[in-house]
Amino acid sequence: MPEDIDLDRPNPARVYDWLLGGEANWAVDREFGEQILQVTPHARAGAMVNREFLGRAVRYCVQQGITQFLDIGSGVPTVGNVHEVAQSLAPDSRCVYVDNEPVAVAHSKILLERHGDPERHAVLRGDLRDVRDVWKQALGTGVLDPDRPVGLLMVAVLHFIDEGAHEAVARYRELLPAGSHLVVSHGSYDGVPAEQLAQLERVIKQYQRSSAPAQGRSRDEVTAFFGDFDLVEPGVVWLPQWRPGEGESKATAQFLDNPSSSCVLGGVARKA
Ligand SMILES: C[S@@+](CC[C@H](N)C(=O)[O-])C[C@H]1O[C@@H](n2cnc3c(N)ncnc32)[C@H](O)[C@@H]1O
Repeated sequence: MPEDIDLDRPNPARVYDWLLGGEANWAVDREFGEQILQVTPHARAGAMVNREFLGRAVRYCVQQGITQFLDIGSGVPTVGNVHEVAQSLAPDSRCVYVDNEPVAVAHSKILLERHGDPERHAVLRGDLRDVRDVWKQALGTGVLDPDRPVGLLMVAVLHFIDEGAHEAVARYRELLPAGSHLVVSHGSYDGVPAEQLAQLERVIKQYQRSSAPAQGRSRDEVTAFFGDFDLVEPGVVWLPQWRPGEGESKATAQFLDNPSSSCVLGGVARKA
């Protein structure tokens, strides 16, 4: 058990793990998760939809020739981890995981010790907002080649960052070599049906109690994370609309008739 784990407040990494059926969570996280399910009964399916988007986006990146990934806000390992999806298509692919939650980092370490390759996989503890530290640590692992395109993943993490999120992402965009791809998913209230909007607002309120309060952003604000990168089709859309045909997407299929009810926008963009 990591020493500095905060068990007084629910933590987004552990609540998300619980929603996905994992075991790296404590009573404080499970109680909080139950409360979230009371206001948004589809939160579990929503977490899976996000996970499926992550898988489709990683597969897309590998198909574009990206074989090294920096996954910031990677969470507790669960089904469809980035290095597993990537190496199913590109056996030599590389991945560095970053999270600021000690339990997520500890579980990732165990997974990689058992099933990873130290030359191609690493995990580190870092705070997305501390761009210089994260970048330095990531390159210090020796896993990533800074001269080759990187797949930078910030999936379901930026809504936990209040001030400075756009500035931090802009700095990562500058650091990435040409040809890199940026993948973002983010909770949003833009165009969400009224009944669900009320639910979303209640969830956001709930998250004020957690160790990382969350907030939704508009479609324009989410699009701004991509800066001057070229958005790949279909642009910034509700997750179920992002290339749903590519890969296994069981939870996504449930949302296809009403994609905004996923309440999460996402996209992928390439640095020219
Ligand atoms: C909802 S989980 C998403 C996990 C994974 N990216 C996915 O989409 O399946 C959000 C993760 O972001 C992490 N996180 C939140 N704030 C962070 C920060 N400032 N720096 C790094 N990680 C952060 C949390 O600890 C958690 O593991």
